[in-house]
Amino acid sequence: MPLAPTDAASRRVVFHRFGGPEVLEIERRAVPTPGPGQVLVRVAAAGVNPVDWKLFSGDPMNDPYERSLPSGNGYDFSGTIDAFGDDVIGWRVGERVFGGLRYEAQADHLVIDPDQLVRVPDGLPLLVAGALNVVGRTAVASVESQRIGEGDVVLIGGAAGGVGILTAQLCLRRGARVLGTASARNHALLRRLGIHPLTHGGGLADEVRAAAPGGLTAVLDTVGHGTVDLAMALGVPPDRINTVADYDARRRHPGVRGVGGAKAGARELTLIADLLAEGSIELPIDSVHPLEDVREAYRRSIAGHATGKIVITTDRGS
Ligand SMILES: NC(=O)c1ccc[n+]([C@@H]2O[C@H](COP(=O)([O-])OP(=O)(O)OC[C@H]3O[C@@H](n4cnc5c(N)ncnc54)[C@H](OP(=O)(O)O)[C@@H]3O)[C@@H](O)[C@H]2O)c1
Repeated sequence: MPLAPTDAASRRVVFHRFGGPEVLEIERRAVPTPGPGQVLVRVAAAGVNPVDWKLFSGDPMNDPYERSLPSGNGYDFSGTIDAFGDDVIGWRVGERVFGGLRYEAQADHLVIDPDQLVRVPDGLPLLVAGALNVVGRTAVASVESQRIGEGDVVLIGGAAGGVGILTAQLCLRRGARVLGTASARNHALLRRLGIHPLTHGGGLADEVRAAAPGGLTAVLDTVGHGTVDLAMALGVPPDRINTVADYDARRRHPGVRGVGGAKAGARELTLIADLLAEGSIELPIDSVHPLEDVREAYRRSIAGHATGKIVITTDRGS
């Protein structure tokens, strides 16, 4: 059931207690006012990430940020600049921007330091830009962690997910041969992008050996589910394995790397936005949900089989 907010100027998603998607509510507030050095962004789209539901679940294992309640929700956003505080230079009203603002993004408006904004290049829809912050930074950082290049044969664990599909395409652009695990329904998509699809599950080791008889040179895991253990069993050196999703596996296998999105910023987001805008890579949109359907969007994310990105819109020209 969509949430039905009461009348007021600006909506935002909040939670007053920790738990599953049922804790998310829509609240109304006055449009926030940017202070000195800040800009007001009218949000168009807000990507859904697994980290969001790990944080609103309140599990201390997942929340290094010790969030207090009540809290706003979300991280990724795109939109247009609506107003400035004093002392903001170099930006104009109406400019299309995207980025990340943890616990604030799922709202009609947000206030942010413009140093945290990235311009949306011409040709890139706000819907896609709004889903880019976490997965874009993570994909670039993961590929860079192994300096993937020509001659590499890389396995991507979870190649149809938000992080995985970008990671795989960046490896291809660097001249690597790319294998990726995904459910059978995503294999045609992977093939079209130039990724050799493999089915996750019991027979994966044999599938990898058959598809890459010379062996793998690197594994970039974006999903967990035993990908790191498999890589070790196949003889991939630990320092040529990077996971953004399985920190237990790193404890079990010293030397396995864990380079994620924190290692990348505006420069990497600009790079990946430009590649998307020029059509050199793709970020499929799994589904689009109005802000009022935020709980449904997270149920879909928690189910764990999104193809590309789940996005929330405010219906403001995305
Ligand atoms: N450390 C960091 O900086 C960082 C940053 C971003 C994300 N992450 C983490 O990375 C993970 C992935 O994030 P995401 O945004 O890419 O998630 P996502 O978009 O929800 O993608 C998840 C993908 O996992 C695949 N999958 C599900 N079960 C699987 C299995 N048993 N074996 C292999 N693949 C399976 C699904 O593909 P199929 O439907 O084809 O099965 C789906 O496409 C999450 O745990 C997230 O928290 C970490």
